[in-house]
Formats: sequence, structure tokens, C-alpha cells
Amino acid sequence: MKKYALVTGANRGIGLETVRQLAHEGTETFLGSRDLQKGLIARDSLPEELRHRIHVLRLDVTDAISVQAAVQTLAERVGHLDLLINNAGINYDTWQKGSSADIDGVTKETFETNFFGVWRMTRAFLPLLRKSKSARIVNVSSGAGSLTHMSSGTPAYSTSKAALNALTIVLAQELRKEEILVNAVCPGWVATDMGGSGGRSVELGAKSVLWAANIPSGGPTGGFFRDGRGIDW
Ligand SMILES: NC(=O)c1ccc[n+]([C@@H]2O[C@H](COP(=O)([O-])OP(=O)(O)OC[C@H]3O[C@@H](n4cnc5c(N)ncnc54)[C@H](OP(=O)(O)O)[C@@H]3O)[C@@H](O)[C@H]2O)c1
Repeated sequence: MKKYALVTGANRGIGLETVRQLAHEGTETFLGSRDLQKGLIARDSLPEELRHRIHVLRLDVTDAISVQAAVQTLAERVGHLDLLINNAGINYDTWQKGSSADIDGVTKETFETNFFGVWRMTRAFLPLLRKSKSARIVNVSSGAGSLTHMSSGTPAYSTSKAALNALTIVLAQELRKEEILVNAVCPGWVATDMGGSGGRSVELGAKSVLWAANIPSGGPTGGFFRDGRGIDW
């Protein structure tokens, strides 16, 4: 049986590497990109032997119409979805302080993508995930969203990821009885446009995502993991 995955924000960084690793495993993978052209260029950057398993999809997680169009495409082309990888993320706002943060601009924009985007995607794709025999939802979160280790930095980003972690638990508890496993992962500090230089490789960062995507039936749900090991909320 073919397995089908959808990765959001997959035209670069950890998302693109996640697509590569999924396709390498033999999974038919939809590469979500809010700019279709960037998505097509990203697919062409991957090894030729994988490209036939990678399907580029225009998808902006902040736009309900775009999300609904993506649902429609998958419904018509495949009829179900096995893996939803909520990877799209923005605004590691090192330049902001909580006490003076731009609430109506940067902070709302951050929540719109990192938190409401994931919620919107999950709601919209649940009917297709429910048609899978082993559905998994992986929310790409961050250690910056850990309440245990929270500090004053990156206020919009950190609070949006903490909210995402809470949403992960809420959805996991609800969907447990349907055997849909929902987990949050932190890829670690990764050298991407967001992470800057000096971090670990995208290969290593995406491995945390693949680990959660491949959790077997009866495995953990409602957890927070890095490198396949539980970390503090
Ligand atoms: N890098 C790190 O050190 C690190 C650490 C912990 C967690 N993370 C998390 O890992 C995930 C991937 O991060 P990354 O480092 O790969 O970041 P990145 O290189 O900046 O890539 C972010 C991706 O998200 C996409 N995106 C942004 N807004 C979107 C929207 N509204 N709809 C759809 N796609 C959208 C971007 O598309 P465009 O090209 O169109 O902008 C891009 O493809 C994020 O959730 C991030 O918070 C990263």
C-alpha cells in the first residue's frame, strides 16, 4: 500500500529535507509551498530518482481558501492522507521584547502561521486523515516553546510554539480513540534561513520529524520529542 504525506512550508529548510527523506522511504509526498514556482524549483533541486514521488502543491496555511483547495486536490487525486507534517513556521523574533512587542503586526502574523495555521490545516485535513489506516500528525514545534525552559527571548515565536504544544495535547487526546497519533517535535537548532549558520544539518533536523511520522500503531501520542526522545513541555 502506498503511503501519502503532505508537508507544509516545504520549499526550503527542514520542510524540503523532510520531503526528501519521506520520498527516499518510498512515501508519495505532497510538497506544500505558498509560492508554486518556488515549490517547483525546490522539487527540481532534489535527486531525480525521487522526483516522481514528489507532488508540488500551492499551499498557504494562513489562507483558508488555499487550504481548502489543497484538501480538494488531495481528495480528488488520492482520497486519503496518511501523514500531515505541519512544518511551516515564521518569525524567530530575536529583535522583539515581550514588554514592547508589536502585537498587531509581527506577533499576530507569527500566531497566524505557527499556531492557527496548524489548527486550520489539521481541521481541514481530518476527513482525509480519518480515511487512512494509520494516520499521523507531526507538529514541528521548538524547544523555544517549552514552558519549562522559557526565557525572555523571541516572545512571539516562543509563545506561538507553546500554544502549538498545547494544541498538540488537545488534539492528541481527542483523536487517540481513532488511533490518529499527534505529536510535537523539536528539530534542534538547525542551519536554515530561520536558524542561521552554526546549527545542525537539515538531515539531522528532519530526522526528528521522520521519527514521529513513523511511530508504529500503539506508539506515543500527545508527546514532545527531539531525536526520538521525550523533552520537557
Ligand atoms: N531552524 C531551526 O533552528 C528551528 C529550530 C526549532 C524549530 N524550527 C521549526 O522548524 C520549522 C521549519 O523551519 P526552518 O528552519 O526550515 O525555516 P525556514 O528555512 O525559514 O523555512 C520556513 C518555511 O515555512 C514556509 N512558510 C512560511 N509561512 C508560510 C505560510 N503562511 N504558508 C506556508 N508556508 C509558509 C516558508 O515559505 P516561503 O519560502 O514562502 O517563505 C518556508 O518554506 C518551523 O516550524 C520552525 O519554527 C526550526
